[in-house]
Amino acid sequence: QELQGHVSIILLGATGDLARKYLWQGLFQLYLDEAGKGHSLSFHGSALVDTKQGQETLAKILKTLSCPKDMAPDRCVKLKDQFQGLSQYRSLKTSEDYLALNKDIEAQVLHEGRWEAGRIFYFSVPSFAYADIARNINSSCRPSPGAWLRVVLEKPFGRDHLSAQQLATELGNFFQEQEMYRVDHYLGKQAVAQILPFRDQNRKALDGLWNRHHVERVEIIMKETVDAEGRTSFYEEYGVIRDVLQNHLTEILTLVAMELPHNISSSEAVLQHKLQAFQALRDLQKSNAVLGQYQDYSQQVRRELHKPDSFHSLTPTFAGILIHMDNLRWEGVPFFLMSGKALDERVGYIRILFKNQAYCVPKEEHWATAKSPCLPRQIIFYIGHGELGSPAVLVSRNLFQPSMPSQSWKKVEGHSSLRLFGCPLSDYYAYSPVVEQDAYSILISQIFHCRKDSFITTENLLASWVFWTPLLDSLAEEVPRLYPGGAVNGHLLDFEFNGNQLAFSQQQLEQLVPGPGP
Ligand code: BG6
Repeated sequence: QELQGHVSIILLGATGDLARKYLWQGLFQLYLDEAGKGHSLSFHGSALVDTKQGQETLAKILKTLSCPKDMAPDRCVKLKDQFQGLSQYRSLKTSEDYLALNKDIEAQVLHEGRWEAGRIFYFSVPSFAYADIARNINSSCRPSPGAWLRVVLEKPFGRDHLSAQQLATELGNFFQEQEMYRVDHYLGKQAVAQILPFRDQNRKALDGLWNRHHVERVEIIMKETVDAEGRTSFYEEYGVIRDVLQNHLTEILTLVAMELPHNISSSEAVLQHKLQAFQALRDLQKSNAVLGQYQDYSQQVRRELHKPDSFHSLTPTFAGILIHMDNLRWEGVPFFLMSGKALDERVGYIRILFKNQAYCVPKEEHWATAKSPCLPRQIIFYIGHGELGSPAVLVSRNLFQPSMPSQSWKKVEGHSSLRLFGCPLSDYYAYSPVVEQDAYSILISQIFHCRKDSFITTENLLASWVFWTPLLDSLAEEVPRLYPGGAVNGHLLDFEFNGNQLAFSQQQLEQLVPGPGP
């Protein structure tokens, strides 16, 4: 195999929550995938703790890494040891620290008799720390000439258009656009990452269907059972729209709504088409939004942020938003985005519901009832959790048999009694991933391979904020309706569409008490 250059990966915030839960595992997966393919790799973790403490914590984190299910235990131990040998903790605070890192990398490259291919800096730190780190990398730790630099950034990327613009300008002082990888981890979820390939592989079948003539509505749903306890200082600043709708759910919307480029493996074309989808979003009005807050939220805020007893938060922990697009393909089709904390179930999915055709003949068992005679015709990208548990792609059998990449998606077996979205599972062509992979492992691999389409460009980020900021401003003083945390029954939040207006049904309204004043 051809000898390749050295790649150093520097994880900032290496002992934090995200790094512990996902990033080290993602880096280990990268090592498993890439070791032996030519590149040599080194991993550097850094955080605010001193070197000794950091080394101990890192060693503990690395012990928790897991290997693929089918790997023999002794091979797993061996590979974990090798990975640990390539990983070290170092403190990176001052520009001298960055200079020292630079020297060490250069020395290692020399020692290996290779050349430097590139450096990845993963910023798993709060965004107020970005500017300092960016300055230090730029002045003291850029890779050698000819080698690439990739910096990976985690949200929040601002809390409105202005702050996002300021942050982008600040980063733009130090990095070029092509060097920046802004993460939206939902783009690494397998069902979400399959939307464009699915559309591409089923172009023929979808050609006449993926439009306003055939689509009744699109639902993009992310329900969570966890609440905001322990995170209220962040949540008070952001709330559910900024936390997940502006980014995760809007990104998904653009993947569904964008025009399909001729070549979906061109990152540039994908990003350009996505931008056009952002630009076609119709301005939002207050009446497009329903806000809620779980009943214990204000109390948690008072406790965690030491607020007086009279304090009532206006931060929404639940939002349902109805979105329309102003283009020929989607004119009149409601896109319904919904997410909330402390709900009755954890589930995420994208459901494209098709119109029933007039020639649909009632099944015999429906003759005596007023029930819809037709089985729903739908395509569901099931992100995970919920009743099915794993990610899946479901296509109603009365639509078409999809073409799926058999090396990565297999037919779902079992679950014969399960009903999903109004139909038994047997009514769908159903597929799940051959190997379930975590979103971060997928994204880290894409960063390594310089695939930019699953990341947020500055242009796309600002386009999203242009869309959301006026609504957020207009809702700033709005009192969210209270809902009983966890006790919300499944139907309470299944909104009724009243024409094109989003509205609570009477039954829903009865269960939602008006929230207290500010
Ligand atoms: C994060 C949000 O981006 O996504 C969290 O900040 C949310 O509030 C999380 O809980 C959900 O991600 P996942 O992968 O657990 O569904």
